[in-house]
Amino acid sequence: MVPFAPGGPTDTVSRLVAEAMGRDLGQNVVVENVGGAGGTLGSNRVAQARPDGHTLLLHHIGMATTPTLYRRLPYDPVAAFEPIGLITEVPMSLIARPNFPANNLADVVAVMRQRREELNYANAGIGAASHLCGLLLMSRVDAPMTTVPFRGTGPAMQELLAGRVDLMCDQTTNTTEQIRGNSVRAYAVTTPQRLPTLPDLPTSAEAGLTGFEVSVWHGLYAPRNTPAPIIARLSQSLQTALRDPRLIARFAELGTAPVAQDQATPAAHRTFWLADIAKWRPLIQAAGQYAD
Ligand code: MLT
Repeated sequence: MVPFAPGGPTDTVSRLVAEAMGRDLGQNVVVENVGGAGGTLGSNRVAQARPDGHTLLLHHIGMATTPTLYRRLPYDPVAAFEPIGLITEVPMSLIARPNFPANNLADVVAVMRQRREELNYANAGIGAASHLCGLLLMSRVDAPMTTVPFRGTGPAMQELLAGRVDLMCDQTTNTTEQIRGNSVRAYAVTTPQRLPTLPDLPTSAEAGLTGFEVSVWHGLYAPRNTPAPIIARLSQSLQTALRDPRLIARFAELGTAPVAQDQATPAAHRTFWLADIAKWRPLIQAAGQYAD
């Protein structure tokens, strides 16, 4: 289960992992997309699924932010899932519609301060990575924009390409090919270092905006009460998938890489996940911006 629309970054990562795990498990791993409400609709479907190892969730940093952002979820985000392993950490990039009137990040900041809510910022709903990146940008620039939520940044990208929304911050697994093909305007990567796949794109700090750094971790989950031997087998299969040369090559083309093998385990995933929930909780509470 991918809790965002097809054709977006979580979908891309999921399909590569599903193919590689399918090769290892000797059976098809089918990807189903249920987007909406920042990933919580699809997550809820998995929380309610039979814990037999046949329904899994591939989700990202939203698993650390939604437990605080959403106060009335129909599932308990931590109790409802068994972590299987971390997968990857993906950089983000700030992009705009093809004819957006800014040549660099300083111009973007100037346009944001001048036009404020007249600008449309596309995202995938509250709790999505694109939402968090947009919040950080607006807070660093001290200028709000009108946010336009989609069921995922796959459909949001189509609107950006068509010029119907202005700006988006999205994972390089969704933006690299559009940036390289010059079909969108690109201003910065939100990482401390430039990416080998996009060597001409400055980091946000190089482009003049310090403190605008975000990356998006992904992990695989099963519903709670999935038997331990099944979790162990799935984790082993995930580790095999993350060593698959085809997956590694495609991840690299999209600006990312698998995590170290010892991170693709239930224990490492749980530790990282709980620490990230604890990291985001006071930040979200201090901002006082909840989804419900
Ligand atoms: C997606 O797959 O559509 C994205 O990961 C959504 C997001 O979190 O920005």
